Amino acid sequence: MKGLILSGGKGTRLYPITYTQAKQLVPVANKPVLFRVIEALQEAGIQDIGIVIGDTGPEIRQAVGKGRRWGVRITYIEQEAPLGLAHAVKISQEFIGDDRFVMFLGDNVIQGGISQLIREFEQSDWNCQVVLTEVEEPQHYGVAELDEAGQILRLVEKPRNPPSNLALVGIYMFDPHIFQAVHSIQPSWRGELEITDAIQWLIDHGYTVRPYIHRGWWIDTGKPIDMLAANDRVLAELVPEVRGYVDRDSQIDHLVTVEEGAEIVNSVVRGPTIIGRNCRIVNSFIGPFTSIYHDTLVENSEIEHSIVLDHSHIENVPHRIQDSMIGRNVHITHSPIKPRAYKLILGDNSKVGLL
Ligand code: DAU
Repeated sequence: MKGLILSGGKGTRLYPITYTQAKQLVPVANKPVLFRVIEALQEAGIQDIGIVIGDTGPEIRQAVGKGRRWGVRITYIEQEAPLGLAHAVKISQEFIGDDRFVMFLGDNVIQGGISQLIREFEQSDWNCQVVLTEVEEPQHYGVAELDEAGQILRLVEKPRNPPSNLALVGIYMFDPHIFQAVHSIQPSWRGELEITDAIQWLIDHGYTVRPYIHRGWWIDTGKPIDMLAANDRVLAELVPEVRGYVDRDSQIDHLVTVEEGAEIVNSVVRGPTIIGRNCRIVNSFIGPFTSIYHDTLVENSEIEHSIVLDHSHIENVPHRIQDSMIGRNVHITHSPIKPRAYKLILGDNSKVGLL
């Protein structure tokens, strides 16, 4: 079985974080979401993985390389524009050949991995298996309608009136019949070749499409609020480890991870929290559910329930920062220079909540 990860697209919903970064490389609990997807495939025994890339391809190639770190082989497949998930399948035909494969969207985080699912599909003669889960706002997803026996009747992409609350999770297993489907369908009203239409084609032509209902958590890290939610979930399951330096004047609890080269000086850190490589936390409070990515400085400040990316500086901030997502190379300081005023340089689409 092969793996296909979709990492093209634009990531507009995660702006401004993704102006300068592929959305699949934004870290959750200090590990890029795409790395978590590669690990899930590797754990399921898949070693041959194709990654569909778009505009942010060079950055993804640089971060992932040939896959040696995970003991897998990565092949990059270039997509000229985000023309739809089924289009991504179409251009991957040469890579997939006659194999069965699992397609995983590169911006999804799922609890518990997919090893069991892959085994089941591998041993079956099903043509396709899709992972579904119950969601509160199905109109934002692909939605499945099941019959009384629990088989799929219909799939619709982001319906205004959803026929059920079962969303497509972004993990799909196929045999090569899917290529016939993606060559037969037409672009949707939004100009994309939809994978839901391709799977519907399989159903309509009598192929076996099995639903699998996932009961654990699943997060599509599309929006900043989803990133924070995913970060909470992953931090809560992280096995803590202290590999950095914690001085005698600091207090950290048993749910805190401190990565190599990080220093905690005269500070209080409450977990679940992760402090990244070579960070410095000085005279500060870091509260639960916070991920501070590498090479960041927090000094004389308080922060909780937030994600801070790499190479940022948070210094002498007079009020606690919380529920925030702070990008790379961001500087937040308290300025003693008059006039006493907020002095902001914010990128397009930034959001700031002032006291
Ligand atoms: O997250 C689950 C949902 O993912 C499903 O419920 C929907 O049925 C499915 O269409 C998809 O919807 P999204 O609107 O979330 O898809 P998005 O455009 O965010 O793309 C998902 C991933 O696939 C993302 O990592 C970018 C990549 N992609 C997307 C397109 C359209 C590509 O690589 N190429 C593409 O052409």
